Parts: sequence; structure tokens; C-alpha cells
Amino acid sequence: MDKKVTVIGAGNVGATAAQRIAEKQLADVVLVDVVEGLPQGKGLDLTEAAPIEKHDARVLGTDSYEDTAGSDVVIITAGIPRKPGMSRDDLLKTNAGIMAKVAAEAARYSPDACIIVVSNPLDAMCHVAYQVTGFPKNRVMGMAGVLDSARFRAFIAMELDVSVENVHAFVLGGHGDTMVPLPRFSTVAGIPITKLLPADRIEALVDRTRNGGAEIVSLLKTGSAFYAPASAAVEMAESIIRDKKKILPCAALLEGEYGIRDLFIGVPVKLGSGGIEQILEIDLEDAEAAALQKSADAVRGLVDALAALDL
Ligand code: NAI
Ligand code: 2OP
Repeated sequence: MDKKVTVIGAGNVGATAAQRIAEKQLADVVLVDVVEGLPQGKGLDLTEAAPIEKHDARVLGTDSYEDTAGSDVVIITAGIPRKPGMSRDDLLKTNAGIMAKVAAEAARYSPDACIIVVSNPLDAMCHVAYQVTGFPKNRVMGMAGVLDSARFRAFIAMELDVSVENVHAFVLGGHGDTMVPLPRFSTVAGIPITKLLPADRIEALVDRTRNGGAEIVSLLKTGSAFYAPASAAVEMAESIIRDKKKILPCAALLEGEYGIRDLFIGVPVKLGSGGIEQILEIDLEDAEAAALQKSADAVRGLVDALAALDL
């Protein structure tokens, strides 16, 4: 392949993303983890699947960042989940420390890459990656909106019994329960769902979307969602690698757009070979703007807590 993607963190999301990238023949993949043998084992396993899946992408598992050199895209999924007895601040500190280390290493070997952050807490982790890499803002972004809007799309398609391909949905804001799904910009074959569903059903779907991550955690019990998150990260990587210029909701650094400054938060962007090539600003109604501001305040709280950490 003439493109190269590094996936840092060979856990559930990372390994699934590596599999999807290889099977789509998007790029050669380098899978990195700190756990001895884990990336090597998964990389070899994916390589042995290639003859059956009929792709020529190479998948290398490694613990050495030298192998990641010259990557076009780096997807960061490294981190730990919250453990019993661990506060939100403890988790923030641990994952921020991991993010600072891995993002710096990735940037050292792939100075021209676009970085897609997946690790949680998502919007705050984008700040860490942005700070330690020193990359321009168009080359650092977070994956959350593609996943959140995919969940909304899936729920709308189930409710109306229509093809998911007919459904587009729009979710703004931070990745958490303050996210802002926007029904009036969510459509089925171009028809806003506000014309197809009663308000109480829309509210139920919005609620389910906001709690989409928690719903999967409560079912799995030992981890969080990974199939849809991996698909979402790969859709972003594909738009960059193939210069598709898709409009996707991504966490981007705002500098005044939507009245928000110096904060990574989910907004619609154009993703192409230059990374974030444009941030699209749309007119929001008062209630929508207030919900976005509330979400931004929640993200700001985490970013302020980050500032107090010695990374
Ligand atoms: P996982 O626990 O299966 O995998 C995480 C991997 O990171 C582990 O293999 C671990 O060994 C590795 N790791 C830890 N420290 C590392 C380091 N310093 N260098 C390299 N690798 C390191 O977790 P999973 O399910 O893959 O989730 C990964 C992250 O993505 C979590 O933070 C999770 O909360 C987040 N996530 C975010 C989503 C979003 O919408 N933004 C959606 C789903 C997950
Ligand atoms: C999710 O939304 C855990 O952030 C992850 O599934």
C-alpha cells in the first residue's frame, strides 16, 4: 500500500480499527501497544487472515515507535478504563499521561501525520495531543461525533424501519451526556425527522443516543463499545487518506466558531488530505446554542483540571 496508518493501543478499538483498515485496503497498518506480545500477536493473526480476506495490506504489531515512521494517519486508542475506586480525576490523570507519551512519540516519527484521538475523556485528550505534538490544529482531531451520530442514525432507522443508508444525523458538542443531537438537521432521504416522528419519540431516540456508550457498557459489563467506535475512526481515516472531503462531526479546536474559543469540541468539519480543511458553522436556534454552550462548559471543566496536572 502507498499509505501507512499507525494505530496506538492494540485493545478492542485499536485491533478492530486495524482489521477494518486492512480489509478495506486503505493502508498498511502498524499496531502499537505496551503489553508485551499483544500487538505482535494481533498483527500476525491479522496477517494470517489476509489470504482469506483477499487483501494485500501489511499489518505489523510492535512496541517500537521506529516502526511507525512516516505514517499518514495516527489513530490513538491507548488508555485504561475507569477501575473501581478510581475517581474521574484519577482517570483523567492516568490517560492524559499515556496520551502525552504516545502522542509525542508518534509525532516524533511521523511529523506530517494527521492524529485521530479516540481515548477518553475524548475532548480533553485532544488538548493533550495538540499540546505535546505542536501540530497545527487542522492535523489533530477527535473521534466521537461520527460514533454518536451513527448511533442516532441506527436508532432512527430502527424506529422507522428504513435503510440506514437513507438516514443522516447530526450531533454536536462534547463526547458525554451533554452531547447535542440535532433532530432538525437529521434526515431520512432528505426529510427532517421532525416531519416523520412525533416529538416524544424523537426525544426518546435523542436520550438513547446520549446514553449510547453507557447502554453498551451495561450489556458488556467488562468493557465498552468497540465495533462502532472502530468503524467511526476508520471512516475519518479514510476521508483523509482518500481525500474524500466528507463532512463529518469531529472534535476540532475552535477559535471563535460557535462563540467558543480554545476548546476541542464536536462540530461538522470537512475532512480531506489536509486534515480538517474547514469547520462548518450553521445557525443554531437559542435552545440548541444553549445546549452546545452547556456541553462546552463541561469540556472546559475537564480541560481546566488537566491544566493543574503535571504531565
Ligand atoms: P482496551 O482496554 O481494550 O485497549 C486499550 C489499549 O491501550 C490496551 O491494549 C492497553 O495495553 C493500551 N495501552 C495502555 N497504555 C498504553 C501506552 N502507554 N502505549 C500503548 N498502548 C497502551 O480499550 P478500548 O475498548 O480499545 O478503548 C480504548 C480507549 O478508547 C478508551 O479510553 C475508551 O474509553 C476510548 N473509547 C472512546 C470512544 C469515543 O467515542 N471517543 C469510543 C470507544 C472507546
Ligand atoms: C462510547 O461512547 C465508551 O466513549 C465510549 O462507547
